[in-house]
This record gives sequence, C-alpha cells and structure tokens, in this order.
Amino acid sequence: MPTFHITDRAGKAHTVQVDNGLTLMEPLRELDDGIEALCGGMCSCATCHVFVTPEWFSKLGTLHSDEQELLESTENFRAGESRLACQVKVTDALNGIRLTVAPEE
Ligand code: FES
Repeated sequence: MPTFHITDRAGKAHTVQVDNGLTLMEPLRELDDGIEALCGGMCSCATCHVFVTPEWFSKLGTLHSDEQELLESTENFRAGESRLACQVKVTDALNGIRLTVAPEE
C-alpha cells in the first residue's frame, strides 16, 4: 500500500496510504480541498488535475492523447507536471510520490 504526499488546493499537506489498483482520483476526492472529479473518472472534465514533481512524472505511465488534449485545454497546464488523477493507477511503484492539486479553473 503506497504512501502519497499530497498538497491540497488550500495548500495543506496530507500523507495518505492508498490501496493498489485504485486511481489517484479516489484518495484525492476524499480530501476537503481535494479534487471534484465531476465526470467520475471518464477523462472528460479535468477537475482532477494535479501537478506531480518532475522526477515522478516519468514514473506515472503513458499520457494518452485524450488526456493530453484535455490537460492542454486547461488554464493551468504545465508540461511535464500535469496529469489527470483519474488516469493514473496506484501501484507500489508510486510509493512516496508528491503531488499538488491544481488550482480550480
Ligand atoms: S475525473 Fe474527470 S477527467 Fe478525471
């Protein structure tokens, strides 16, 4: 069960343990100042936008074209840091990851 270090939208730090097999969306939507995830993980709303530190970005797996296009349409897109939390599967390889919830659009 990997441990994640999350900075929420209000700037508050959280350390949470997350079950493998979920997506990053699940723990983030539980936080008071986390993500909305309005589309429920269907890669169509971008309300689950997060920034990961560059050293972790390459460990998150492939960015598919639909995710890339949606992220690039957001005001706060950062190449090499932006991901949609609903598109990232939780595995032990992500133990220790640091991520920040993107500002509300
Ligand atoms: S929850 Fe809507 S795009 Fe991720």
